[in-house]
Amino acid sequence: MDGVIAPRSRFVPPHPPRGPGPVPVWRGFFGERARTSVYGWSRQAFELPYMRRNVLGFRVHIPLEPELVQHVLLDNAANYLKPDIVKKLLAPVIGRGLLSSDGQLWRDQRRIVAANFAPAAVDALVPVFAAAARDAAARWSAGTRDMAVAATATTMRIIADALFAGDRRLTDEAPMRHIAAALEGFGEARIQAMLGLKVMPWSPRGWRARKGQIFLRETLTQVVRERLPDGGPDDFLGRLIRALGDKFEDADALALAVDNAATFYLAGHETTANALTWALFLLSEQPALQEEAAAEARAALAAGADDAELPDRLPLLRRILEETLRLYPSAPRFDRQAAAPDRLGEHEVQPGDIVSIWPWILHRHRALWDDPDAFDPGRFAEGGRERHRFQYIPFGAGQRTCVGARFATIEALTILAEWLAGWSFAPVPGHEVRTHGMVTLRPAGGLPLRLEPRGSSFFRPIS
Ligand code: HEM
Repeated sequence: MDGVIAPRSRFVPPHPPRGPGPVPVWRGFFGERARTSVYGWSRQAFELPYMRRNVLGFRVHIPLEPELVQHVLLDNAANYLKPDIVKKLLAPVIGRGLLSSDGQLWRDQRRIVAANFAPAAVDALVPVFAAAARDAAARWSAGTRDMAVAATATTMRIIADALFAGDRRLTDEAPMRHIAAALEGFGEARIQAMLGLKVMPWSPRGWRARKGQIFLRETLTQVVRERLPDGGPDDFLGRLIRALGDKFEDADALALAVDNAATFYLAGHETTANALTWALFLLSEQPALQEEAAAEARAALAAGADDAELPDRLPLLRRILEETLRLYPSAPRFDRQAAAPDRLGEHEVQPGDIVSIWPWILHRHRALWDDPDAFDPGRFAEGGRERHRFQYIPFGAGQRTCVGARFATIEALTILAEWLAGWSFAPVPGHEVRTHGMVTLRPAGGLPLRLEPRGSSFFRPIS
């Protein structure tokens, strides 16, 4: 099956409009640019090797040559820490957990969680991913359905099942609403933090975000407290609580357990949900490719629905997922702050400068990709144009690379296979899909699609 993709016409999915020249910095604080991180870039941004901005007293470097990105994320990674401002913004929800810590504290936490995300541990979760996908689809009927909501509910259940012993407090409609609100309020909080102000709600959106943060933090604190003193069952949370207890003083161990519970709960489902949503959108626009992917999924499932090798039998779907994450990286941008003076090629970096890494721009850069805005999973087939390791970084790169990258990939492939095998997805006429989101990238207002069951000819033996 690998390498076989039916010829089809060029398809350029939507992206925000691009003007010819640079957009003034102040525009980033108003309107759509303040709400959607990938909005407002000029055409030039996708052609230059490097950009620099001065944003409210911060010097912001934006390296767009893979070698420069490699320098920041790998070669001199010790000099580039998570920015103070990002830590301040994230602290109310994820404290000093893995995503928002540096140095020895980061190393200790990374070591503690690493075993849970080792390849064998993740591959063993295929049945968990498949069960959640099947349960979701069992409730569908022909007609229109918001697939962004379906994807979020499914990945939320998976993270609860895989890491938190299926705790139902983490899978209700309430956390879904509060998480969406917390992410929506990020733009407003970011502006306050950059202005050096106390971060506090200004608007109804800000208040909803604050309420969402408090809800999440309180729920996860309760979930962790109930497991004390010994962590309870031998699952992710239990192992985390015990390992932190062995390493840190009681108060610190408890705080870090809650920080990491929140980190993994949030980082572990919203990102994958967005990847699934965009993949379904792209496939809904490309019916011939969708049929091929569905055929591949049926064959793969028929050979063993719940076995760890299932993802290996989905080479076309894997390329579709890779191309989805190129065009719509769930984390379109992430930042570092320089600790000591350095150089980015010919550009001088001073301590305190921000270095912004932009998968969104790197993944669509004209110097790095052929026809960068077109959807073409074939570019990930063997024999395609050679790539630099740091030009395609949906999961980041270097030592801080996403610890859940394999989890997310296997999860997304399993869910897509289950859903495509049983259902077809078509666009809703008249519905316009637009990119949205300050932290993660999703379609504005969800993704309504028209669903049809693929018919009773689909038969899969129960394994
Ligand atoms: C498609 C899905 C996902 C995408 C696109 C994604 C993307 C990323 C990126 C870009 C980073 C690096 C950020 C930086 O360097 O500043 C990251 C880090 C991280 N991700 Fe993911 N992620 C995904 C799924 C997951 C899942 C499923 C989990 C957990 C179950 C997870 C947990 C984390 C954690 C804890 C970190 C911080 C790692 C560290 O700093 O050591 N992510 N992710």
